[in-house]
Amino acid sequence: MPDDFELMWGDLRPLGRSASSGGYFRQPFTSPERELVAWFLEQAEARGLRVESDDFGNIVAWWDTGSGPAVLTGSHLDSVLDGGAYDGPLGVVSALAAVDLMRSRGVVPSRPVGVSVFVEEEGSRFGLACLGSRLATGATSWETARELQDRDGVRLGDVVVGGSSSLLADVGTFVELHVEQGRDLVDRGAAIGVASEIWPHGRYRFDFTGSANHAGTTRMEDRQDPMLTYAMTALAANKQARLAGQRATFGRVAVEPNGTNAVPSRVTAWMDARCATDAGLSDLVEAVTRQATDRADRDGTTVEVTAESVSASVAFDSSLAAALAADHEGGDWPVIATQAGHDAGILSAAGIPTAMLFVRNPSGVSHSPAEHAEIADCLVGVSALADTLERLTR
Ligand code: GLV
Ligand code: MN
Ligand code: MN
Repeated sequence: MPDDFELMWGDLRPLGRSASSGGYFRQPFTSPERELVAWFLEQAEARGLRVESDDFGNIVAWWDTGSGPAVLTGSHLDSVLDGGAYDGPLGVVSALAAVDLMRSRGVVPSRPVGVSVFVEEEGSRFGLACLGSRLATGATSWETARELQDRDGVRLGDVVVGGSSSLLADVGTFVELHVEQGRDLVDRGAAIGVASEIWPHGRYRFDFTGSANHAGTTRMEDRQDPMLTYAMTALAANKQARLAGQRATFGRVAVEPNGTNAVPSRVTAWMDARCATDAGLSDLVEAVTRQATDRADRDGTTVEVTAESVSASVAFDSSLAAALAADHEGGDWPVIATQAGHDAGILSAAGIPTAMLFVRNPSGVSHSPAEHAEIADCLVGVSALADTLERLTR
């Protein structure tokens, strides 16, 4: 007998959880994330779902019912470093629970229904966001992806076989349920929302190079300190984004040699930038790069900027969003934009009609151990997803 939502949620709670922060470390192809995958396979088997996986580690558990193009629903099981419990797993657990709910309602879908898990959605290990769905859709080639390296220099090609994927060949529609990562639904007093679009966003590596020297004996005017160039760049990015209503964040920095009593020789920092339009994103990155370069000239340092992961704007199928949002007891679900990336955006860009459902997050906090959704809202989410799948498979 399959578990209900709360039992499944309880199964996942301890996996990859830090005892000190309470956050999750579920990096792809590491043991906590593999435990989640093993759990998913057990859940699929308990429901008699047929499991199919591709050469990249993406998985679909199929409810083989009806015929024609399938409806796929699911999300991811990996997390950012020290992330929350909900980002990803909520969509997977809700998908399994929605299948249970449909079955308990006696629903017999006219089309196959699949529950998907895409690997490395966060790009927290290999740096490319939505890696699994990019590979499954062909948006990124295996020849490029296999060379990606994690922080220890391990290549993606060393941890996964790689090759090809036919997982999405028969998929007609994709629906991803996700915890909301802002406070739009709270402000609207709604438990469920539907996505309209994803802001374009990207990750840019800034390599600042200077000269290592003694922290005590080197006169201040004699230094080529890349930390200063980096510090000013972080402030400039923040100001630039604030003035334009955009987002820019330096959340990761590596310093060499990272000694207290030495001027550093090199600082590598990663900027995450997000804007409402593709042109706005290019302008923002260009403006920050220009200011970094000007400052580098004054500091006697150099800076090089490399785009590591760029995701163009996504407009979800508007008629699908409107159809799914309409005619619910208690009123239509709001249709809202998001600034967070999702596998749903990659599938949409690949031409698969795609929709997203968001579940209210009371504080809006995400990518943090404090990320939260109330169980009552999660259960509303399961029911909303089951209703959605029913509409799509009638
Ligand atoms: C994915 O969660 C992102 O970084 O937008
Ligand atoms: Mn996610
Ligand atoms: Mn995320």
